Amino acid sequence: MILSIESSCDDSSIAITKIETRELIYHKKISQEEEHSIYGGVVPELASRLHAVALPKILEETKEYFPHLKAIAVTNRPGLGVTLLEGITMAKTLSALLDIPLIGVHHLKAHIYSLFIEKEAITPLLVLLISGGHTQIIRVKSFENMEILATTIDDSVGESFDKTAKMMGLGYPGGAIIESLAKGGDEMRFNLPVPLRNSPLIAFSLSGLKNAVRLKIAECRDDLGVLSEEDKRDISASFQRAVKLHLLQKSKKIFERDTIRDFAIVGGASANLYIQDGYRELCNKYNKRVHRVELKYCSDNSAMVGRYAIEAYKRGEFTPIEELDIVVTKRQQNGDLL
Ligand code: KG4
Ligand code: ZN
Repeated sequence: MILSIESSCDDSSIAITKIETRELIYHKKISQEEEHSIYGGVVPELASRLHAVALPKILEETKEYFPHLKAIAVTNRPGLGVTLLEGITMAKTLSALLDIPLIGVHHLKAHIYSLFIEKEAITPLLVLLISGGHTQIIRVKSFENMEILATTIDDSVGESFDKTAKMMGLGYPGGAIIESLAKGGDEMRFNLPVPLRNSPLIAFSLSGLKNAVRLKIAECRDDLGVLSEEDKRDISASFQRAVKLHLLQKSKKIFERDTIRDFAIVGGASANLYIQDGYRELCNKYNKRVHRVELKYCSDNSAMVGRYAIEAYKRGEFTPIEELDIVVTKRQQNGDLL
C-alpha cells in the first residue's frame, strides 16, 4: 500500500491505496473553505497552521495500515510553499520512521490521474486542466510523456470565478456559487468580452474579462453600493458564458489539428456542469470521447496523489529524502510538467 498526502493549498488530505489492485482503501479530506471564506481567498499562513492540526488528526486514523506501507507519496510542486511544507515534513518523518521510500508528486499530474482512481489509465489523452492555480491543455502521450499545448498568460479559470464572486461579496471559493447563481440568470444581458477572441494565439487569458466584470459590477450598483439579486445572477451567467466560449474557442483550435480521440477535463473547476456541457457538444462535433473526473475527486485530494504514485512506484521513481523539497518557482507555478 501507498500512503499519500496532499497539502498544496487549502485541503488537508491523506489516502491509502493498494498498489496491485489500485483499490482506494482509505481517503479523508478536511477542507478549510470556511476559515478562508471571510478573507475571500486562501491566506497561506492560516492554511499552513490548519494543515498542522488537520493532517496529524487524519494520520491517526491510518495507523493500522502502517505495517503494510511500501512508500509515502506527497505533493511537492507546484503550490503554496508554506502549505506544501506541512505535507512534506510529515512524509519525510513517516519515511524515516517506517524506513520506506518517498515519492514526490507533481500536483498537476496528480489531477490528471484523478481520472483513473481505482481504474486503469487511458493514454494517449488530451486533458483540459482548470483549477484555482492553472488553466492548460496537456497532451498526455504516456505517463512519462506529457506536453503542455496551451496555458494561461495571466489568471486561471478557478481564480477568475473566485475573484468574480469576491467582487460581488459572495464568499470563497466562488466557482460553485457562481455556477449556481448563473442557473437563474440571463447570460445574454451583459456583453462581456470573450478573451483573445480575435487572436491566433492558442493560449488562455482571464484578467481582461475579470476587469470587464469589475466595471459591470460597478455600473450595476445602486446609490448605496448595493447589487440586486437579479444583477448578481445575470453577471454570474454572462461571466460564465464568456469563460466557456473562451475555453471552447481555444480548445477547438487544438481539436482541429490533434487526432487524439480521448479528451478529459480535470481540476477543481471541472466540477462545473455548464462548462462540461459545452465540451460535450464540442467533442461530439470532433468525434472525441469525453472523460470526466468523479465529482468528489475534482478538487484537491490525496486519492489522486496516491493513484499517480502507484505508477511512479511501479517504475521505481523514488525521491531521496535529502532531495525532496518544495518547488514554487515561477516556472513551476506556470505548470511546467517537470
Ligand atoms: O483543483 P482545485 O481544488 O485547487 C487547485 O489546484 O487550485 O481547484 C479549486 C478551484 C477554485 O478556484 C474553485 O472556485 C474552482 O476550482 N471551482 C469551480 C467550481 N467548483 C470549484 N469553478 C467553476 N465552477 C465550479 N462549479
Ligand atoms: Zn489542484
